[in-house]
Amino acid sequence: MPATFTQSALLLSLLLGLGQAQAASEPGPAALATRMGIPHPAVIAHRGASFDAPESTAAAYKLARDLGADYLELDLQRSKDGVLFALHDNNLQRTTDVASKFPERKDSPANAFTMAELKTLDAGSWFNAAYPDRARPAFAGLKILTLDEIIDIAQGNPLHKPGLYIETKEPKQFPGIEHDLKEKLQDRGWLSPAGSKLAKSELSVGQGKGKVVLQTFEKSSLELLQKEMPQVPKILLLWVGEGNIEPKSTVTFAQSGDTDKAAYYAKQQPKDKAEFQRWVDYAKAQGAIGTGPSAALTQGGDQSYADLVQPWMNQYTHDQGLLVHVYTIDEAVDYQKVMAAGVDGIFTNRASELLKFYKRPAAASVAQVIRNNGY
Ligand code: G3P
Ligand code: CA
Repeated sequence: MPATFTQSALLLSLLLGLGQAQAASEPGPAALATRMGIPHPAVIAHRGASFDAPESTAAAYKLARDLGADYLELDLQRSKDGVLFALHDNNLQRTTDVASKFPERKDSPANAFTMAELKTLDAGSWFNAAYPDRARPAFAGLKILTLDEIIDIAQGNPLHKPGLYIETKEPKQFPGIEHDLKEKLQDRGWLSPAGSKLAKSELSVGQGKGKVVLQTFEKSSLELLQKEMPQVPKILLLWVGEGNIEPKSTVTFAQSGDTDKAAYYAKQQPKDKAEFQRWVDYAKAQGAIGTGPSAALTQGGDQSYADLVQPWMNQYTHDQGLLVHVYTIDEAVDYQKVMAAGVDGIFTNRASELLKFYKRPAAASVAQVIRNNGY
């Protein structure tokens, strides 16, 4: 007797369920990511969609969210009066008009300013000057964002809620920032277990158990993050250089004769295989669920570093039961290269391009989304 539609559907769902159960119980990075609620491969919007809008501003984060990025990446700092906010650089010169608003303090670290002072700065006009082909009048006057404001953005689209991928930036400058972060995430309900009544398949990343990923280059901060938030997935960021993986060569950039930093970094490699493995082992021992290594980019540029995503490196990391999220890649040729080498997700300034590469293109163009958001 042929099966009815209901019976067929049930059978199919049982088979699918069995498949999912098998995937979850099988070893391997995809299954690990799925168990953690982390998309595989993951699209991590580096400082927001920062190729198309000023980094770490509302325009960049709303764009990344509405394009469908899995995570909004941010570098966490704390103002003089204790407010958590997002900024990559140690000082405000590159991405704001601090030199004209606070000329005497222009070289001061950002944490020497109160949040009210930081909010007076224009964090958008530098982008228009640096990238005239991507400039928009509405970017002028964009503000530095608090973590609270970025959380509001992450929660703000009813159809797609990205997660947050938060780096403790120069954490030694901010004693206790790991605890402050925990309190903020807790207050905002971002540390509660995934309690949604929606079926798993309907959950956005920002509603599941991988909704926050914590990242740091600093061993001491990883340990504090683990102490404060043991249940939250963590990534140890890797690069070759001071305070991180020991290099094979001790020749500095100045001594090297190289005129291009990317060319210098491309030659950097770990002292030996064991040195790389020690860092992966350390990450695992401290409870990290993966590493965030650097990459050497085909076209060079200021985000091109040592190649730490060689196949043997990714294989070793996977063999330890850890994921690999590589930073920071914007070109298809490099997406292809690092995916072939085995990574599990990519930090990118161009979320729209990476989504296309993963065959998950956004429904609207970058220009349309920017306009829809009022810029
Ligand atoms: O957080 C990963 C990647 O962002 C590391 O580089 O310097 O852009 O924070 P950076
Ligand atoms: Ca970062």
